[in-house]
Amino acid sequence: MNTKYEAPPYRIKMVESIRKTTKEERKTLLENAGYNPFSLKSEDVYIDLLTDSGTGAMSQEQWAALMRGDEAYAGSRSFYRLEGVVKHITGYDYFMPAHQGRGAEQVVIPNLVNEDKNIVISNIHFDTTRAHVEIAGARAIDCVIEEAYDTQNYHPFKGNFDIDKLKTLLETHDGHVAGVILTITNNSAGGQPVSMKNMQEVSRIVKDKGIPVLIDGARYAENAFFVKEREDAYKDKTILEIAREAFSYADIFLMSAKKDGLVNMGGIIAIKDDEALFQKCQTRIVPMEGFPTYGGMSGRDMDALAVGLEEALDSHYLRHRIDQARYLGDRLRDAGVPVQYPIGGHAVFVDVAKILPDIPFDQFPAQSFTNALYIESGVRAVEIGSFLMGRDPDTLENIQSSLEFMRLTLPRRTYTYKHLDHVAEGVIQVFRNRKQLKGLRLTYEPPVLRHFTAKLEPIE
Ligand code: F0G
Repeated sequence: MNTKYEAPPYRIKMVESIRKTTKEERKTLLENAGYNPFSLKSEDVYIDLLTDSGTGAMSQEQWAALMRGDEAYAGSRSFYRLEGVVKHITGYDYFMPAHQGRGAEQVVIPNLVNEDKNIVISNIHFDTTRAHVEIAGARAIDCVIEEAYDTQNYHPFKGNFDIDKLKTLLETHDGHVAGVILTITNNSAGGQPVSMKNMQEVSRIVKDKGIPVLIDGARYAENAFFVKEREDAYKDKTILEIAREAFSYADIFLMSAKKDGLVNMGGIIAIKDDEALFQKCQTRIVPMEGFPTYGGMSGRDMDALAVGLEEALDSHYLRHRIDQARYLGDRLRDAGVPVQYPIGGHAVFVDVAKILPDIPFDQFPAQSFTNALYIESGVRAVEIGSFLMGRDPDTLENIQSSLEFMRLTLPRRTYTYKHLDHVAEGVIQVFRNRKQLKGLRLTYEPPVLRHFTAKLEPIE
């Protein structure tokens, strides 16, 4: 049967109640949360689209796998099961678990960067990746194609590296580039995929110079799905075959397993063949994350991850997952709401700069829209714009983000199409009443990563 939006390839065995509140209650709850949805209690949220990270539902096979967990400090059976799956998917020789994506980053990145090798290039660094590059003393430079910033025009692979810009950067910083990171999918550009052709080219150019290529593959299976759908040569290949080819173009794989690992907590470090680097990471992982055969994960969680990694390669699962995002995106587009187009893998990114052009960036238009959505519908989204960007560390001025997004991030296997209707109706209602929205000012601001804990108030 040829349906526009794929029905779920699973049925529901266990439910978790969620609570509806009234608009009046939500006004008070948001005020008490300092107009920052990060400070809301989850029980006061009806549909939680803050993130797709660690928020998905595990399968019965994963819950069963938990029971097999071997909690030995060293050499646990769970470690070897997970290692087997990671090696099978990546084709790499070396593996270590980490407690989550940023745990993997803190082990590997300082082993690549030094005084001389102090530049890291990515299509777009995810926030924590950028933070670890900077903490290690290097500069993080983004190098995505210009089309990524043009939300209204279709491009099949808006996550791609700008190859000419990459070549120029490699020349300008010749001898100083510590690594090049392929973020697949490209979260910050809107969950946008990177084509296989682009990965091949990046790999060829970068390896010619002896620079390691990393994959930040939190959503690598979703990326493989887009490659299958949009790159002709891959339409008959399996997701596993496509993923393996992608890994063949890199040397190091870092993964937040909380996304395409289908678990609530976990991370992966895999290294193709560089034994010396593996040994350095083994040395560093002990004080940072834990002994190399558990790296911050319990045995049972490693077993659940071993199963989740395999489940995430199922093309029916992926089709439904990505169709959910498209369904929500299409409903919004039909109502005239500008969103990053085409819709990416894990979320719909609403282009608030286009909706609220009169609210200046330093009054955080996307945060204002996000707050209005919560009051309207009990849906929690997240701002990805100038509020998140923070301040320039030298001038202390607010940085203007190139894009002012509200991200509606879909947890995996968690919500139904009907939930998404509720979300769409809430967004459309706020969009129609957009003239009433006001900017925000900060009343408390921590010095770094302010968006998590800052407090705000509406400007009357
Ligand atoms: N890389 C990417 C592309 C990510 O999206 C994330 C997390 C990380 C690394 C870090 O992984 O959270 O397990 O430490 N992204 C989440 C998000 C938090 O909401 O987009 P982590």
